[in-house]
Amino acid sequence: MQSPKYRFNKKDKKNWPIVLAVILGSLVLLAPVVWMGLHNWSLDESLTAMNFQKTDEPEPSHSTDKPVDEVNEDPNQTQKPKLPKETVPPKKPEKTETPVEPKESPSPPVEKPASDEYIPNQKYPSTPTLVEGFVIANKHYPLPTDYNKGEDSKAREAFDQMAAAAKLDGFELVAFSTFRSFERQETLYNQYVSKDGQQAADQYSARPGYSEHQTGLAFDIGERNFEQHWASASFGKTPAGQWIANNAHKYGFIMRYPLGKEEVTGYMHESWHFRYVGVEPATDMFTHKQTLEEYLDL
Ligand code: DAL
Ligand code: ZN
Repeated sequence: MQSPKYRFNKKDKKNWPIVLAVILGSLVLLAPVVWMGLHNWSLDESLTAMNFQKTDEPEPSHSTDKPVDEVNEDPNQTQKPKLPKETVPPKKPEKTETPVEPKESPSPPVEKPASDEYIPNQKYPSTPTLVEGFVIANKHYPLPTDYNKGEDSKAREAFDQMAAAAKLDGFELVAFSTFRSFERQETLYNQYVSKDGQQAADQYSARPGYSEHQTGLAFDIGERNFEQHWASASFGKTPAGQWIANNAHKYGFIMRYPLGKEEVTGYMHESWHFRYVGVEPATDMFTHKQTLEEYLDL
């Protein structure tokens, strides 16, 4: 019997090219596996180690991967920016350029109500609105609730001068209502609302905090012994009412709520309500038939 020990014989010698081919083939097949095993089983790392480039990622041809602020926008520059020396393309930065959609679409611009309407839910300010030095009180500009300066002394002085001049012409003027506190206006307004309803009251009485009387610069003027015309449309037809309409500006007063300007001032015409602004502005407004809103472009 032939010993089981392997013996090289002539027949084997004939087969050696086949054996060699099998060995080489096995090496070719195993080599990439071993290579990847040496590189953490990572295709990227294995290719990098072999100095290969992946073909599914295009080589950057210019600096589009750069942040925008690094791109040279000089139109005179014709040279292409140089690529970095490394042949491995830098990883693309996370996409940051896609604009993030705002969660809520912006609210449409809020339309300002007309001058003769109040702004809903408006808060009282902590300081009064001053425009070109004038304290403003109208349906869009309330005063602080504690704005309590009392009657303005300059306005009183001007009224006294005007009254003296009117007296020479035969009219005894009386300022029957000047400064009114927030609380006083509140009482009056509530009375008017109870009597006439809010819609009607809003045409002739300011809501608390919105009255020019709270500035101390507004004077309701009538004629002594003609109380029946006080705070009445009829005052404008009296000689005293006409005198003051034509002369108040010379003393620094403007008729604050003229006829025909109701939509601008927010109130019905009041022939008795005058506001002290100073002689020059009053004369300007009188000459140009402007309200304070128009004069100041409020
Ligand atoms: N009568 C005016 C508008 C006021 O109440 O202030
Ligand atoms: Zn008044």
